[in-house]
Amino acid sequence: MTRGLFISFEGIDGAGKSSHVEALAAAFRAQGRAVTQTREPGGTPMAEQLRALVLHEDMDALTEALLVFAGRRDHLRRVIEPALARGEVVLCDRFTDATFAYQGAGRGFDPAVLALLERWVQASDALPAGQLRQPDMTLWFEIAPAIAAARLAGVRAPDRFEAEPGEFFARVHAGYAQRAAADPQRFVRLAAEAPRQAVWQQITAALARRGWLAGADAAQDGPA
Ligand code: TYD
Repeated sequence: MTRGLFISFEGIDGAGKSSHVEALAAAFRAQGRAVTQTREPGGTPMAEQLRALVLHEDMDALTEALLVFAGRRDHLRRVIEPALARGEVVLCDRFTDATFAYQGAGRGFDPAVLALLERWVQASDALPAGQLRQPDMTLWFEIAPAIAAARLAGVRAPDRFEAEPGEFFARVHAGYAQRAAADPQRFVRLAAEAPRQAVWQQITAALARRGWLAGADAAQDGPA
């Protein structure tokens, strides 16, 4: 059976991830792969309820962290692990790097506590003892916070994170940079300020380099 593949999409708000999640799902399906397309916070009925709380209710950073990790546990058990066990491609719009970037770097919450929660939540029966479930690849949409903010401006009513000031996103951006530097094998940095088609080409090139997507036909499609 084909091995499951777990790919996460990360970046500050306004970096332009979403259309590429759709496009990559379509590219994998075109090559005959089953795809589970999902997101965090969320991805299960319970985790979607937690998402609504995290995005809209006032709370401190520890509560945010506990809720996103609670949702993540449910998401892993009900959706991500079963899909990987079936050999599917799992495309997840945000995962634990977002917690380190937003709750850790953005809110200033203790990353050692986040790492502890990560160890509990991402333990998996499907993996050798001690190994945590992590994405096989993380596509990091890197963009200057000021440009991302300009893209978001006026698009819709901002949630609790989107309403944060520029300094918050500068810290979140630095948090992602730190995560990427700590795990260069897993992270693929995308120059996300480029036109959408150019970003798509960076994505398909990265996947083709790993042999996960046949480069030539993938490059023709892309986000609508
Ligand atoms: P986002 O992917 O931006 O959803 P949408 O495109 O619908 O706005 O995710 C929602 C927000 O949740 C985003 O601002 C980042 C935040 N977030 C955290 O603070 N911690 C987390 O662990 C995750 C997964 C997301």
